[in-house]
Amino acid sequence: MSERHPTDPTAGDFNGLRQLVDTLPSHWYFDPAHYERERATIWWKHWVYLCRADALAETRSFRTFDLVGQPILLLRDEAGEIRAFYNACRHRGAALCREPEGRLPASGISCPYHAWNYRLDGQLARIPNAGRPHHVPIADTALHPIAVKVWRGFVYANLAGAEATLGDNFNANLEQFDRWPLERLVVGYRLTKRIRCNWKVFWENYNECLHCPGVHPGLIDVVPIYRRGIMEERDDPNWRASADRDDPLYQGGLKRGATTWSVDGQSLGHEFADLTASERALGYHYMTSLPSHYLVLHVDHVRSSRILAIGPEETELEIEWLFPPETLADPAVDIMKACAFSARVMQEDGEVCELAQRGLHAAPHTHGMLMPEEYDVWRFQEWVRTSLGSE
Ligand code: FES
Ligand SMILES: [Fe+2]
Repeated sequence: MSERHPTDPTAGDFNGLRQLVDTLPSHWYFDPAHYERERATIWWKHWVYLCRADALAETRSFRTFDLVGQPILLLRDEAGEIRAFYNACRHRGAALCREPEGRLPASGISCPYHAWNYRLDGQLARIPNAGRPHHVPIADTALHPIAVKVWRGFVYANLAGAEATLGDNFNANLEQFDRWPLERLVVGYRLTKRIRCNWKVFWENYNECLHCPGVHPGLIDVVPIYRRGIMEERDDPNWRASADRDDPLYQGGLKRGATTWSVDGQSLGHEFADLTASERALGYHYMTSLPSHYLVLHVDHVRSSRILAIGPEETELEIEWLFPPETLADPAVDIMKACAFSARVMQEDGEVCELAQRGLHAAPHTHGMLMPEEYDVWRFQEWVRTSLGSE
């Protein structure tokens, strides 16, 4: 039996786990009481991705969100600043905006219940009272604010306030993505889907490629090293034996002749001009912001996936394919060559996530165990444990 908290089992120049490690307890994936713990310590503490900044293109435009059970109102004020509030009137709590998106009138935010009126900075402006006196201190009755940050065109909210920096949530230093012009990219295609699994099941699947040979026939054709059930060169304990082979099967990267993730492996044109030769050669880069967001960056487009827990056993994905405006304006480009390719991969992942969720209910399966290749699953599970405050 492995220890519950081993010292780092990934030490050394081989990426993989060097000892047997248990997974998280199975009931953490379906128990409503545990889900409540995770809402409070993870979803309502960390930065959570909401949408692209250009989804609020005009001043006074708004969007509403359900941030894992919390109603959120995101808006762009008259000065162009993006702000977020709880979507709850200070009178008796009614949701102020009912629609998923729209544009507020110049008169501000008017509660649909008893018509309290707020400015776009959240201050209460007016209480309709027909001239009768009341005792509400208007100056102290602003909407409850929520911390918001915009990173390179991506809007995040943090219900716990802004003590945590946005960078704390990302997997790596963000400067490595400076050569991708993320701010100017535009959504060309969007897919929203619900998966019947706990949100952690989704992330664990994201963090390993052991399933790739059996699950992703299209992907392993374009990324040969995935055929081996590993993600990169050093996932193989014997990687030194093939260190000088110039072959993507061993070194990672796209198959020969391919330039991006698309149905024919060919980029859509209008490639990002500033990428280095090695960034082009690898052809895919990951940016991860737990618990809600990851990007896959290619030479010609970027895929953004937002993950939100809907309940203990349901997860919502919103996937957006981002392109430079010139790609979307080019009638010769069919963006679905890229979108259909990764949509299929996501579909395949969704199916195995649902299988994993079903089996976790088996009473004797109190926990599982991790293979050496699942070192990033272990890291994710450690992040969950740390966030929950267990030792
Ligand atoms: S609940 Fe908003 S005005 Fe009454
Ligand atoms: Fe997968």
